[in-house]
Amino acid sequence: MQILHRTGRYEDIECDLLGLCVFEDEGSRSSTFKHVNRLTHGAAGAVLSSGELKLELHRTCLIHNPRGLKAKRLLLVGSGKKHEFTLARLRELAGTAVRRARASHSKVIAFLPPAEDPSLEYGRVCAEGALYGNYESDIYKTKDKEGKDVDRFLLVTPKGASTQGMEKSIRHGTIIGNAVNFARALGNEPGNILTPSQLAERAANIAHEVGLSVEILEREEMQKLGMNTLLAVARGSDEPPKMIILRIKRQERAPRKRAPLYALVGKGVTFDSGGISLKPGEKMEDMKADMAGGAAVLAAMVALAQLHPRHRVIGLVPAVENLPSGKATRPGDVVKSYLGKTVEIINTDAEGRLILADALAYARTLGATHLVDVATLTGACVIALGNVNAGLLGTNQEMIDRILQNRSITGEKLWQLPIDDEYRKAISSEIADIKNVGNRSGGAITAAKFLQEFVEDTPWVHMDIAGMDLDHDGRPFAAKGATGFGVRTLIQLFT
Ligand code: BES
Ligand code: MN
Ligand code: ZN
Repeated sequence: MQILHRTGRYEDIECDLLGLCVFEDEGSRSSTFKHVNRLTHGAAGAVLSSGELKLELHRTCLIHNPRGLKAKRLLLVGSGKKHEFTLARLRELAGTAVRRARASHSKVIAFLPPAEDPSLEYGRVCAEGALYGNYESDIYKTKDKEGKDVDRFLLVTPKGASTQGMEKSIRHGTIIGNAVNFARALGNEPGNILTPSQLAERAANIAHEVGLSVEILEREEMQKLGMNTLLAVARGSDEPPKMIILRIKRQERAPRKRAPLYALVGKGVTFDSGGISLKPGEKMEDMKADMAGGAAVLAAMVALAQLHPRHRVIGLVPAVENLPSGKATRPGDVVKSYLGKTVEIINTDAEGRLILADALAYARTLGATHLVDVATLTGACVIALGNVNAGLLGTNQEMIDRILQNRSITGEKLWQLPIDDEYRKAISSEIADIKNVGNRSGGAITAAKFLQEFVEDTPWVHMDIAGMDLDHDGRPFAAKGATGFGVRTLIQLFT
């Protein structure tokens, strides 16, 4: 989809659909609405007065062949309450307009945001939302494919808005929007297709396009390095594990000594059956998306390579498949991690923390001064926060505060959970330095305490995105399936 800026009179724009945002509490009283009502000889106002369109958030109403407009259709988009308006909401509204346009087979759409004085950021978030809305998950359908992609999205602003600035902002948003959709595409791939090897290959392919360098650690190298908690997870599968390491080429050439180096580490379990501690069958298919954290890291690195991050950033994605077999790790097994600490593996289904333990410790060996990990780590986090907020934990309150502050821009909801030292005793082992699970209480926190053991004193933030990776219901601005959660939060932290 092409995204362009148009300034001037919206009534003169030739397009299949013109999306017009209307605030719930302003309705027909806004000057734009009065204007469009005059142009359409009362058609727009009639929809409101008939009671057909309640201007609740994301409710839409389509008017065909509106008089007075060059657009073939006029779409009124319920935009919520004026005082609740944020950039995050605008992103969603652009997505809602695009999805409604898809449903009406519109190919060229114009979109008029609700505010009269648009900021440059509008370009970015509208581009992101439009791309998000245009994405479909039906990748393996051989017929009845949607095939309804919108080809062109025209962002309309009143005359006077800086076109140069707006175009730059749109380019920025296009990079982010495409990165998010890349993460979604990976999340939607089934486990038989997206194996650790395939994830590594896709990382290499896209890296080549955007100026990232990729290094893949194979099983033998990981054995030599002693990454035994990661390898313990991979043992049960015939698919070989891969450690994917991404660096921004431009940054490699100019390394400033002692400048902070941020490592993004994403859980890349391409399928999580639980291993010998086998999961129940119900919803096990969702575990194809247990690499969503890894996809988020990969996608964020792809975007950051094209933007200009404020800091040096590298990405690590430990990729494994967690299956039971005659070679699989047993509950009770003890292994020595890359850092040297010994781990008693009580439950093979708590595999994410095992691969992250080695990846986080290895990131420090690579020189990381700050760590951010993203992982579909615990069902306990879903119990605590539902499918609305991701869990946010860690030892660096400064980074946590920045992430929380960015929520009104990214639209990604996260909620901080505590990480007191009292939680640590739940995972002390009788025979080893630590065990990989506690009891059921505080499961999201004890999982984080396990990770903390391997980041030690390096400033660290952990995002538990379990429950946020897949959306089975879909939203007015989003297709069902993988969400790409975390990508925008990671990018926003560094741009
Ligand atoms: N990948 C799962 C966590 C998960 C659950 C993600 C639901 C998305 C939706 C993780 O590997 C896991 O199995 N965690 C266990 C840990 C337990 C054994 C301590 C869990 O949460 O049940
Ligand atoms: Mn698991
Ligand atoms: Zn898992």
